[in-house]
Amino acid sequence: MEKTTTPLEFWSQVWDEGTIRFHQNNYNSEMVKYFKDIDLKGKSVLIPLAGKTKDILFFLEKGAHVTAIEFWEPAVISFFEENNIPYKKHGYSFFADNLTFHAMDFFNFTTEKPFDVLFDRASQVVFNRADRPRYYEHISKLINQRSILLLFSIDHNGSFDYGPPHKIPKAEIITAYKKMGITLHTNSENIEVATSDKMQAQGIMSLTAFTLINVNS
Ligand SMILES: C[S@@+](CC[C@H](N)C(=O)[O-])C[C@H]1O[C@@H](n2cnc3c(N)ncnc32)[C@H](O)[C@@H]1O
Repeated sequence: MEKTTTPLEFWSQVWDEGTIRFHQNNYNSEMVKYFKDIDLKGKSVLIPLAGKTKDILFFLEKGAHVTAIEFWEPAVISFFEENNIPYKKHGYSFFADNLTFHAMDFFNFTTEKPFDVLFDRASQVVFNRADRPRYYEHISKLINQRSILLLFSIDHNGSFDYGPPHKIPKAEIITAYKKMGITLHTNSENIEVATSDKMQAQGIMSLTAFTLINVNS
């Protein structure tokens, strides 16, 4: 019988092979623009499925307290090493000034206090359509109606079986957050050429990258 790969096995392989096309070496420009004039000093920021994103540094520079979650521990260690940040490790958690980075499955992360900010780039697209309700349900336990959100996602003309990145109709996300009492608006929407061979092989030639926010700036 053919062995099926679990999502975490899939991502372990991605990291092992170094095929981390999602990783950006600079701050995400839309994130910088969006949060530029928002005072984040002392605010708690949640970055789920963080990879080793440099965007964490932006929030630290803004004086925020960042909690990031990434299950692949070598990526977490790379984040600290590549950015020359000293850390202390307790169990699966890594601590530095104003930063807690948990090397764990997102679904095992809980909080007593809802986060002030949710910055979510490319984590919803990790989950297929069947698993996303669980993702939204878990997110709903980590934020509240006063949290400031910036969410990055994509839609494409491939099938719902394709992914990651999985296609997500914008309306699905809006409906999921509406159930949490949060009204989302489109901040940006761009049609991009699908450059990955894997996507092109599936006939996906373009994708719509969009971002959603709940506070009008
Ligand atoms: C598409 S990448 C996005 C990374 C990051 N947000 C960025 O912008 O660079 C998705 C990340 O989620 C991680 N991941 C996947 N499933 C996870 C889970 N259940 N819990 C924690 N991390 C997970 C993967 O290892 C990968 O680093």
